[in-house]
Formats: sequence, C-alpha cells, structure tokens
Amino acid sequence: MTLNAVPRVSVIVVAAGSGTRLGAEVPKAFAALRGSTLLERSVHAAAGMRERPQLIVVAPAPLVAEATALASAAFGEAVTVVAGGETRQRSVALGLAEVADTVSIVLVHDAARALTPSSLFDAVVDEVDARGHGVIPGLPVSDTIKLVDAAGDIHETVDRSVLSAVQTPQGFPRADLVAAYAAATSDETDDAGLVTALGLEVSVIPGRELAFKVTTPADLSRAELILGDSAAPALPRIGIGTDTHGFDHSAELWLAGLQWPDEDGLAGHSDGDAVAHAITDALLSACSLGDIGSVFGTSDPRFVGAHGEVFLTETRRRIEEAGFRIGNVSVQVIGNRPKFSPRREEAEALLTGILGAPVSLSATTTDGLGFTGRGEGIAAIATALVFYSQGY
Ligand code: CTP
Ligand code: MG
Repeated sequence: MTLNAVPRVSVIVVAAGSGTRLGAEVPKAFAALRGSTLLERSVHAAAGMRERPQLIVVAPAPLVAEATALASAAFGEAVTVVAGGETRQRSVALGLAEVADTVSIVLVHDAARALTPSSLFDAVVDEVDARGHGVIPGLPVSDTIKLVDAAGDIHETVDRSVLSAVQTPQGFPRADLVAAYAAATSDETDDAGLVTALGLEVSVIPGRELAFKVTTPADLSRAELILGDSAAPALPRIGIGTDTHGFDHSAELWLAGLQWPDEDGLAGHSDGDAVAHAITDALLSACSLGDIGSVFGTSDPRFVGAHGEVFLTETRRRIEEAGFRIGNVSVQVIGNRPKFSPRREEAEALLTGILGAPVSLSATTTDGLGFTGRGEGIAAIATALVFYSQGY
C-alpha cells in the first residue's frame, strides 16, 4: 500500500471506551468478533476507502501499544494512536489534535460499529465534498417511540417519521469540527451534536444496517451471526480468473502491484499487471458481479496505464457493497520472468493489505513449452473465496 503523504481526509476511530454495557473482560474495541477485534474490523473498513485517509486511533491509555500494532497491521501502514479521555467527546478532541495539516475533511467513527462497510465512509466523504457541510448517516426508526417518565408512565407517542437513528462515520469540513470542539459547552454522544450546537449545518444521508453499534452482548451475537458461524454459516462462493499479457520491451514491468526494475514490461491498456487482473476477475466472478472488462471497460480512458491497486480497491469496494466479504485469494503466475521468490512476501503483504484478506502467491514455469516457455509473455490464474452474508 502506498503511503499517502498528503492526505485530504482524516478518519478518527474512537476506541477508548471501556464497554461497560458489553461487559467483556477487555475494553470493547479489543473484544474479539470471529477472530478479529472490533478495532481491527473498523480500521479495516477505513483501509478500504477509495481515497486513502490519514488514520488516527484513540485507544485506552494502557492499550496504546496494542492498538498501534493491531491498527497498523489492519491499515497496511503506520497509524497514529493516542490515549483517549474520560468521555467519547474528550477522546474525539484528543484525536482531532493529531489531524495532519493537509487534511480538509475529518470523519469520526466509533470502533464499536465494526461491520460498517467502506462504501459508507466513501459516501460520507462524497457528500461532505458535494454539500460543503457536515454529513452523518442515519436510518429511519421502525419502532414506535414513547416519551415515558421514570415511573414508566407514557406522556406521548413521538412521530417517528421525523426521527433518524444516526450512525458513524460522521464527516465534517475540518474547520467546522475544530470550531465545534473548541466551543463545546455540553457533553454530546455524537459529533454532529456539537457542530449543530454551534449553528452549523449538518445533513443526514442514508445509513447502513451493517453500521450498527456493538453495545450489548446481544449486539455482539448479531455481528457473529452476520459473519457466520458453524450453526449459521455465511455462504461461501468461489470464483476463478485468468489473465495473459505479452511482453513489451519498451514498457516498465508492474506485476502483483509491484514495480520490477530492469525487467521487460507487459503490453496492455492498463499497466498489464496480469496478477492484479486475474484476481479482479476471480473476485468479481465469485460474487457474480461481471468481469474486469464489463466493470472497468477495456477502452475506458480513465484506466490507461492504471495500476493493479486501482482495480483491486474498486473491486473490494463493490463486492463489500454487495454484501460479500473476501475469505482468501490464491494466485499462480506462469512465466520464466521475473523471478518471484525474492519478492513473494512483499507482493503478498501488499495485495493482502489492499484486499483485507490473505492473498497467497506462487509462481511456476512451463518447462520451455508454450508462449510462457518461449518467454513471450506471462499468464496468471487466480481463485477467490468470498462469503455472502444474507440479508445485508
Ligand atoms: N469512546 C471513547 N472514549 C470514551 C468513551 C467512548 O473513545 N471515553 C468510544 C468507544 O470506544 C466506542 C465509541 O466511543 O467505540 C462509542 O461509545 P460507546 O458505544 O458508548 O462505547 P463505550 O463507552 O466503550 O461503552 P459503554 O458506554 O457501554 O461503557
Ligand atoms: Mg459509552
């Protein structure tokens, strides 16, 4: 993953709460959900954004080192981690102090909303850009809501058509959020509360069922059910993809997302990265979402010279949007050159970071036979396993 030296967007993941209502042995963000912590899953969602953000994690003071290790691995590069405060609001303020100079849009996200799709982060950024003010996701309220007193006596039924159950990530122009936190006089449970208290505009956009907050043990069970377990497995699906490119001696070689100095390049409309293209086809096919040609357009000028990361990031976004998550990807490269073994781990780490799921690479030759044996080009064959979570 390329390090973004000039990020335009920051994502602050607040993970410093104790999780009293969940009642786990560890602070909530560090509770395990099918093998990954809530924090890792939330960071992972931010890592899948179309626009690479600066990532800031706010963690409980004793767990800053652990959060740094978990979040950096899930994000694919070093993240900034700071110790949180007594309240969520204080924790956000501490994260806000770490926002990079180049950033103009800040998103604040609860680590506890661990299954939030990357596409919701993208939608919030897009809408802040389009509207120039704060944007938060929200869902209509389906229960009938009563105003009751401490004794349980009903005072009124609230008109639910005017209610929205709001979620995170909440996105704001940086200046709005900084001003709101500087002027804060009340303690609010979300960031929009402070921004609107200052008289600044904030709009609600459609949220996602998957962005629900893990608050109680029942919420954790719901998340486990969505991810699948032995009693109710998420449905696995596989896909296959192949790609072939001939060598172009005048081009530079890009393969498996890496640049290979002093090697002949591959001919193609994009950068000819047969590994990335085979993986893209395998993933799209596993999800019945078409193929690289139908999704990206083989003649689309936007993809002239595009690197593999562009295809893989957009593919991941689309399949997560459609309710799938990636299990793993295996890809084999067939060709005489380049020699893969010295850079296999580097390539696997890069592709794993982009897709957020294990990618394993192998390479083979064909005993001098065929076009690969004659050194005319390279082929790649990829298999992808994905899981479909029904109902989402
Ligand atoms: N949070 C935080 N710092 C705090 C309190 C909360 O960073 N002092 C974060 C939590 O880690 C969580 C998010 O804010 O990701 C939403 O808060 P909530 O769901 O209330 O989490 P907790 O405060 O941890 O849970 P509880 O209220 O049950 O103790
Ligand atoms: Mg709380």
